[in-house]
Amino acid sequence: MKNDVFDSVVVGDGDTRIAGVSLKELAKECPTPLYIYDEDRLVKTMHAYTDHFTSPKFEGRVVYATKAFNCKAMLRLCQKNGLYMDSVSLGEIYTAHKAGIDMSGLYFHGNNKTVIEMRRAFEYGVGTLIVDSLEESEKLARIASEYPDCSMRILIRVNPIIEAATHKHIQTATPDSKFGIAIDRKDNVLETIRTIQSAPNLHFAGLHAHIGSQIFGSDPFTKEVDDLTDYMVMLRDEHGIHCEELDLGGGFGVWYNDADTPAPVEDVCRTIVSACEKAFAAKNLTPSVVTIEPGRSIVAEAGYLLYEITLIKKALKDTFYFVDGGMSDLIRPALYEAVYSADLVGKPADAPKQLVTIGGKCCESGDIVIRDIELPVAKEGDLLLVYSAGAYGYSMANNYNKNPLPGVVFVKDGTWRYVVRPESLDDMIARECD
Ligand code: LLP
Repeated sequence: MKNDVFDSVVVGDGDTRIAGVSLKELAKECPTPLYIYDEDRLVKTMHAYTDHFTSPKFEGRVVYATKAFNCKAMLRLCQKNGLYMDSVSLGEIYTAHKAGIDMSGLYFHGNNKTVIEMRRAFEYGVGTLIVDSLEESEKLARIASEYPDCSMRILIRVNPIIEAATHKHIQTATPDSKFGIAIDRKDNVLETIRTIQSAPNLHFAGLHAHIGSQIFGSDPFTKEVDDLTDYMVMLRDEHGIHCEELDLGGGFGVWYNDADTPAPVEDVCRTIVSACEKAFAAKNLTPSVVTIEPGRSIVAEAGYLLYEITLIKKALKDTFYFVDGGMSDLIRPALYEAVYSADLVGKPADAPKQLVTIGGKCCESGDIVIRDIELPVAKEGDLLLVYSAGAYGYSMANNYNKNPLPGVVFVKDGTWRYVVRPESLDDMIARECD
């Protein structure tokens, strides 16, 4: 599986190359830990979505969930390749603005948008805002009245209560979820719609749901389509309310290790499109736009994390390969028990192997990058390449233990460029007051 996924990774001559770039050379010029993205792979995945999420019956819209990996170069790449984008904070809105993104195509999510964020969304011309609750719709209507010359499309996030099989921290449609309005609270949903409709510059455009992340199999998504289209029928037949957009969220699973079996993007798109076409025909619905919001699946497999092995320790039970980073640059193993795969740079697949644990350098027992992995015998100074690190890795990096944030490079056709400089020690303390 990994070989198909990572066909731009070539091992030979004691080195590993990604998109023709030597990792040994790269590590001489850029400090590790270093995030590396294969730019062609990003573009290929974007097109797999935009080419296949299409239908003669509606506009299929692909919104990249930028929280998975957000920087100006990435946002520009999305715009160039026909993707819409979302944001969940003033920081993400601001980055989109500075990157020159068409703000009318931006979707603004979040369960708790602040007054300042809402005001900026109007000022920057954000096109669509997803309201998470009745309470938020009331706040939004008040803010909207301050901007009579601006208008905004509004979707309402409902919680269809679909417990997708994934880590509990990334389920979002459980009965106790903080997100959205539970689908059976019809009066609450209706009051939210009425609140939106009563504001002259807010336009109620439809429904949104996002059922979770790293979900395999199509059943949760087809159930989501069925339940939401039933809801659209109820809104139309009982209340005369038309939804012009149905936004199904993201959550499509990716490969991290050989237990993960993601369906190809093309198949995911076809399944959702055909579920929508069938449901719309059966229920006589005519939304003009159907939206999906992939984040992880656009960036995960195109991204790598390069570490240097800085110490090898034989402990009571484990042999540890310690690397020069850890939960400050890759927190997902500690937070979600995520299991990554990795290789030693330049070591052929048939090199003699031993069972080791990759440990980080943070003062925290949970700071384990990968527990119990078969890797070739290593020595200090060897490089370790973690696969499928492109989603929620850099974007969740932090300064724990005052480790500076890693840099990010894009590689393509044998060349590399920084898209985010590594944080220097002085960058890190620049805001501290004497
Ligand atoms: N749309 C909405 C409204 C979302 O909240 C999310 C993710 C997405 C789309 C994109 O989901 P994706 O396609 O990336 O699964 N930090 C966690 C993941 C949190 C996801 C939050 N929302 C992790 O590292 O696994």
